[in-house]
Amino acid sequence: MRLLFATTNANKVREVRPVLANLPIELLTLQDVSPVEEPEETGRTFWENARLKALFYAAASGETVIAEDSGLVIPALGGAPGVHSARFLGANVPYETRFAEIFRRLAPFGERRPNASFVTAICLARGAEILFEAETAIDGVIASAPAGHNGFGYDPIFYYPPLKKTTGELTIEEKIWVSHRARAFRDFARWYGVTRSPRRHEDTKSKKFRYCV
Ligand code: IMP
Repeated sequence: MRLLFATTNANKVREVRPVLANLPIELLTLQDVSPVEEPEETGRTFWENARLKALFYAAASGETVIAEDSGLVIPALGGAPGVHSARFLGANVPYETRFAEIFRRLAPFGERRPNASFVTAICLARGAEILFEAETAIDGVIASAPAGHNGFGYDPIFYYPPLKKTTGELTIEEKIWVSHRARAFRDFARWYGVTRSPRRHEDTKSKKFRYCV
């Protein structure tokens, strides 16, 4: 099956591709299809934004599309930056400035490290039909200072207690192991493999098997 992952974020693709590697899926990204203007992410939840993107790109491309929406949720800040993670303080504001502002807002907590979660919602759509949805999260705390140069976005300030590192310090293998995004795509892979196990068709000409959902 051709599957268009509606993203241009190479870091997201790096986390997702290995999770789908053993499935009969040809994974495309937005770089592989004709460019279209991005839809505005007007949803109030990760679910809504994932759905909105999946339906938009499915209509625009004619492909089966999987879209995801993700972000950092800090309950002590009322859930911020949340669905606005990519645009927190402004679309082109450097992450160092965003980290500084988060630390400033968390100053009243002193030494206590406030809880935080990374959340991902994914949505699979073909035409106007939604075929699968999932939402997953990983829990951690906000680090006392940014650490690590791996990953992207808020990784340097998200401390993951089970591995005693920020997600910015994780290797790509570790990130794939723990990441909210990889978890959501593992749910999709399980659903794809079990619930909608692809039908095998023998192509009589080439004697090869084709799979289709
Ligand atoms: P989206 O591309 O609209 O889903 O925005 C997601 C934003 O959330 C990213 O641009 C990052 O700022 C943040 N984010 C999501 N997942 C991660 C992650 O795994 N690590 C660090 N930041 C993340």
